[in-house]
Amino acid sequence: TRPHEVSIEGKNYKTDEWMNTPATILSAIPRRLHTQPNHPLTITRQLIESRFPNYKTHNTLFPIVSTLQNFDSLGFPQDHVGRSRTDTYYLNKDTVLRTHTSAHQADVFRANETEGYLISADVYRRDAVDRTHYPIFHQMEGARTWSRQESEKAGKSLAEVIYDDVAKIPKHNIDVEDPDTPFHATRNPKQEPHSVEEVAAISTHLKRSLEDVVVTIFDAARQTSLSSDPSAPSAETAEPLKMRWVEAYFPFTSPSWELEVYWQGDWLEVLGSGVVQQAILNSADVPDRLGWAFGLGLERIAMLLYGIPDIRLFWSTDPRFLSQFDANAPLKRFVPFSKYPACFKDVSFWVPETPSSSSSAAGGAGTLPSSPSTTVAAAPAGTTPAPSSSSQSSTANSAAPAIATAPLTGQAFHENDVMEVARDVCGDVVEDVRLVDEFVHPKTRRRSMCYRVNYRSLERTLTNDETNGLHQRLTQQLVDKLGVEIR
Ligand code: PHE
Repeated sequence: TRPHEVSIEGKNYKTDEWMNTPATILSAIPRRLHTQPNHPLTITRQLIESRFPNYKTHNTLFPIVSTLQNFDSLGFPQDHVGRSRTDTYYLNKDTVLRTHTSAHQADVFRANETEGYLISADVYRRDAVDRTHYPIFHQMEGARTWSRQESEKAGKSLAEVIYDDVAKIPKHNIDVEDPDTPFHATRNPKQEPHSVEEVAAISTHLKRSLEDVVVTIFDAARQTSLSSDPSAPSAETAEPLKMRWVEAYFPFTSPSWELEVYWQGDWLEVLGSGVVQQAILNSADVPDRLGWAFGLGLERIAMLLYGIPDIRLFWSTDPRFLSQFDANAPLKRFVPFSKYPACFKDVSFWVPETPSSSSSAAGGAGTLPSSPSTTVAAAPAGTTPAPSSSSQSSTANSAAPAIATAPLTGQAFHENDVMEVARDVCGDVVEDVRLVDEFVHPKTRRRSMCYRVNYRSLERTLTNDETNGLHQRLTQQLVDKLGVEIR
């Protein structure tokens, strides 16, 4: 039933058995929310861009990329969970909807147009359904590099040149926790071609630049939340902004860090970053350059900047949403229009037996360990909009169980498939889908799961007939597409 070919904005792609991208996702590609005038994602993007005045911005890079661009060029191991078909949208074996803006790193480094660049783009991941996750979201990537040769010509060491640039970054007086553990022998080794001084200089420039971004954003966010809430503490008594740098892991940077911000009682991950793997710059034909890169999720930042409570709202064309944002006016907190009633419905089923769950089965791609989807809960969220159950959320988590590329047949049950059926049937009227019960039958060893679906539109009240109809179709699709047996 899959199309043999898909055409996207004039480009044609042959599909194969790897194709797992629904038409609903493909049809959203032209929206490009981060470039719509006065859209909150556009305003958020521009606010961040304003802190990097000489960086070249790329906002219209095409979302369909090769697995080479999205994974291989960045040093993702072959068995990295991010490559799995349960996590990534494929058109065919070699072609994906980009899962992060880093897919363009190698190409932009190769073009070598400016010392710094920013890429903002729509990115695509199969993931949970809830108020902070949507299969399409937007990231901004930034990078800054310096040339050893050029610094030599200026009669300086590379580190000296970089520290000159550090001096140009606006200062802040915010409390930053930075244990400054630059290297970890296995997770975050110093790269062989880099000197300790060079890494110290690059990471100082990286940290001061990104702290400046965060101070800018959170100052703005505090203004909006204080101004709108009469019971909120005044600016003087409100909790001061706090940030901390935490060691992280990405295949394409070393060492790597995440920046977290203390916001309304919680430490919140805002971005991932690190010193660019020299191998990437070498193969992009700029071996003489060294530098840093970061990536952040625009939705998460826009949600706290404006107080937007549900990620689906970004896709709304309702003037009650869109009219509240104006690029040329001071930032105002979002005022939710009335909340329509929720409607909860449960669906319980037996998970089909797969080669990987029955030891005697032969054939298929039964070499796979069964998917950890429903048990992985604590993976750090990286640049995804919020802490996530997604296995690829933080691009890579050294502690996460590695699972091999998804099999094409005999595929193990994966929660993301339930999520996608829900999206496909309900579009934006599903608010969240969560596992409420799970058990294994003591005799048959079959696994039973119960999911609770919350049907709620952001724009109107759903009728009973409508939610009943949706739930029936969702149930039927779970049977047809995933082979579950309804209990
Ligand atoms: N691409 C990473 C992610 O999606 C973020 C990142 C970008 C980290 C650049 C380091 C450097 O989570």
